[in-house]
Amino acid sequence: MNQTGPDPEATRSVNPAFSTEDGEIELTLRPKLLDEYIGQHKAKENLKVFIAAALNRKEALDHCLFYGPPGVGKTTLANVVANELGVNLRVTSGPAIERPGDLASLLTNIGEKDVLFVDEIHRMPRSIEEILYPAMEDFGLDIIIGKGPSARAVRLELPHFTLIGATTRAGKLSPPLRDRFGILLRLELYDHTSLAKIVERSSHILKADCDAGGAQEIAARSRGTPRIANRLLRRVRDFAEFYYEKKITKETAELVLQKLDIDKLGLDLLDHRMMNTIIKNYNGGPVGLETLATAIGEEAVTLEDVYEPYLIQIGFLARTPRGRCATSLCYEYLGKKSQQPNLFPHPNNQKPD
Ligand code: ADE
Repeated sequence: MNQTGPDPEATRSVNPAFSTEDGEIELTLRPKLLDEYIGQHKAKENLKVFIAAALNRKEALDHCLFYGPPGVGKTTLANVVANELGVNLRVTSGPAIERPGDLASLLTNIGEKDVLFVDEIHRMPRSIEEILYPAMEDFGLDIIIGKGPSARAVRLELPHFTLIGATTRAGKLSPPLRDRFGILLRLELYDHTSLAKIVERSSHILKADCDAGGAQEIAARSRGTPRIANRLLRRVRDFAEFYYEKKITKETAELVLQKLDIDKLGLDLLDHRMMNTIIKNYNGGPVGLETLATAIGEEAVTLEDVYEPYLIQIGFLARTPRGRCATSLCYEYLGKKSQQPNLFPHPNNQKPD
């Protein structure tokens, strides 16, 4: 990474990644069943049918791929699916499965119809993918025993299991792996109404006194992401307990989030730096992703996976074949005048609510 000192991404209150501080609290806030799961209406309705059908046939659920930006609840949904099916969930991640033996040990230790959740499945080594294909299709694992001339292939029979893969980058999955998932679900960034409901539900569980105005203010600044909403709720609660007689209202949420440098749309100093760099250094763009990443001292993949989805969703950033561009909406929000006559009109380029 092109920087010294601590990774600024890791310390962002609006980083959608799971932090150590989120830890156990976040787990208590996670819904256990589909009916408690707020938002992602389309994915939820489809899953309801597939789960009921699998239960009815007494079969394992077909393999699922959950894809979408970080923090939108892929792991939470995998837990919900396992609970709804009444089976165990084993959790791992693509980069953690380094050798065939790692996969063999996971798959031979799960029970009939259990769920194996592989986060960041696009980062699984290709050599492992090839062993996974027969495991997904025929529930068999071909392993080589011994070395040299005496080596022989043995097929292990596996229980019928469900693989749930999660990825922020469905396009990075090899086509043969993608084709082996029977259920593909795209998870979207959440709208304000769903996020406000999540904040209300979480404040109830945390026994925090948060009114509807407080929940809406936190929701509006959570970048479409429940994990950020729950984190901001905890921060606002800290301040509310310290200064404001515990009550979280619209006014307290506004004051606290302003103190934390999170603006009305949930943009923090790093977002502002990115948008200002595009405008000041590159006349609003287009600027290539790698160039932009170098200019602000971040990794290109972080810009693409963490910053961009929300900035694109609110219509501040356009991704064009020639690079990234600040939209007129972005100029307007930052109070800057554009030098260009028609700034990259963009389908999302409408005022966010
Ligand atoms: N907490 C985190 N994600 C949630 C969701 N989708 N619904 C309810 N509570 C949540």
